Amino acid sequence: MKLILDLDTGIDDAFALAYALASPEVELIGVTGTYGNVTVADGVRNTLALLELFGRPDVPVYPGPQREDFEVAEISAFIHGANGLGEVELPAPATGPAGSAVELLIDAVHTHPDLVIVPTGPSTTIAAALDDDHFAEHARIVMMGGALTVPGNVRPWAEANVWQDPEATNEVFRRARHVTMIGLDVTLKTLLTRTETAQWRALGTPGGTMLADAADHYIGAYATTSPHLGGCGLHDPLAVAVAVDPSLVECLALPMQVDVAGETRGRTIGDLSRQGPLVNVAVGVDVAKFLGEFMTRLTRLAANT
Ligand code: RIB
Ligand code: CA
Repeated sequence: MKLILDLDTGIDDAFALAYALASPEVELIGVTGTYGNVTVADGVRNTLALLELFGRPDVPVYPGPQREDFEVAEISAFIHGANGLGEVELPAPATGPAGSAVELLIDAVHTHPDLVIVPTGPSTTIAAALDDDHFAEHARIVMMGGALTVPGNVRPWAEANVWQDPEATNEVFRRARHVTMIGLDVTLKTLLTRTETAQWRALGTPGGTMLADAADHYIGAYATTSPHLGGCGLHDPLAVAVAVDPSLVECLALPMQVDVAGETRGRTIGDLSRQGPLVNVAVGVDVAKFLGEFMTRLTRLAANT
């Protein structure tokens, strides 16, 4: 399958990128950069640096649009570090960004019938691509975002990616015909601990050390913000894993909407009165199978980079 990732490259976005690069089923034809954990520019730089670390500088990275009033939230900088990668410093990338993210997405859906798009940040870039009717009709999207049956993580009702641009995610739910939502309902069941990151550190490779250092920062932040969980949420790599193997999750098919006004702005809810496409909302996940795949794939990549 061909894949495009739309990343706001913080720590779990880096895991999502690593999962895609480590998956023999996947041909990663490009990465688009959005904002959220970091600015578009910093996210693109992080992605380019990670692609070089993981031996894939050939994968092009396309910057997307950023909301004009965007500033990195304090909580994002705390969880992902000021540089988005838990203060892990990577060499400045030798390659620069490619062209327009929106054009890439529209062209790729026209060209590749087996393409899946995995957005793991705010929906701003995907919503812009929905101006193209063919994209809306044919794009297959597996997005990390939202919370149907559990509370939000940045507001009582709102998950971080949807909270950044609720109107954009509402457009995705309203217009795109093939959407799977991987929200906090499932991603907060898939947790990483220092027991696993020690395996990466023991490899003694640059790839293993980078993954271990970034993950340990992320686990430390979760220990402060969500001590009851006992680990950090593997939000973004779970979306990639589901794109590769949809049987990892159980879904409800619902007409979804995002509240865009009032106290519940950013809430993702099912609305049976709503006309339009059904969204597959993941409500169950095979935790053991996913964690097994996650560790096998990322450890193999890290051992060789
Ligand atoms: O709510 C989790 C999401 O917010 C993840 O995509 C994480 O990277 C942050 O962007
Ligand atoms: Ca993300």
